[in-house]
Amino acid sequence: MTSQLQGQTFQGRRFEGQRLVVASHNSGKVREIIDLLMPLAIEAVSAGTLGLLEPEETADSFAGNSELKARAAAVGLGLPALADDSGLAVDALGGDPGIYSARWAGPSKDFPMAMTKVNDAILELEKRTGVIQTRKARFICALSLAWPDDHVETVQGEVVGNLVWPPRGGTGFGYDPIFAPEGHTLTFGEADPAWKHSISHRADAFKKLLTTVFGPR
Ligand code: IMP
Repeated sequence: MTSQLQGQTFQGRRFEGQRLVVASHNSGKVREIIDLLMPLAIEAVSAGTLGLLEPEETADSFAGNSELKARAAAVGLGLPALADDSGLAVDALGGDPGIYSARWAGPSKDFPMAMTKVNDAILELEKRTGVIQTRKARFICALSLAWPDDHVETVQGEVVGNLVWPPRGGTGFGYDPIFAPEGHTLTFGEADPAWKHSISHRADAFKKLLTTVFGPR
């Protein structure tokens, strides 16, 4: 279906249903996505509660990984499924840790260690090249909605900012304590979670879904 949205024509498929699966086993992400869907009167259930296992993230991009997670859930459960893949991309490190953001923290999800790895990698680069590097970085989020017939629509959002060292603040998760969004001095680890959620990479991607796949309902 083609629809006219904010002056642009969306050529993809619109979601017209009332129910979908959130293809994530991360309870924080599931809660955030369920909250975002609530105003649309869409009932969302998590793939975990329906007994679906998560596929291995074998793609080489955020979009590729969110698509494979959404497709596996939609085809496996016979319901439209929404999945996300996200991470921190540091300009000086050529976009690392990127899709490996969770893996840099190891199996024990040690984010103080992962943040130290990011900082050490920039310092090593500066030592090797003799050039002071930018601390510019971005959080990226791909969101994919897949249907049981294997059709998938994907959008990507981001929030740009700067890395700080040492880490600051105890709210949020992952790399939040070393990331201050552009124009702000507070890190996401120090900020009010509601403010973070209004400007985050996930909110940016979700806004794009609202003007495309979910359209005006
Ligand atoms: P995924 O489950 O493969 O998408 O892994 C995403 C990883 O990226 C998380 O484990 C975090 O390390 C990092 N990440 C994604 N979004 C955020 C965020 O909003 N704040 C901090 N870290 C994030």
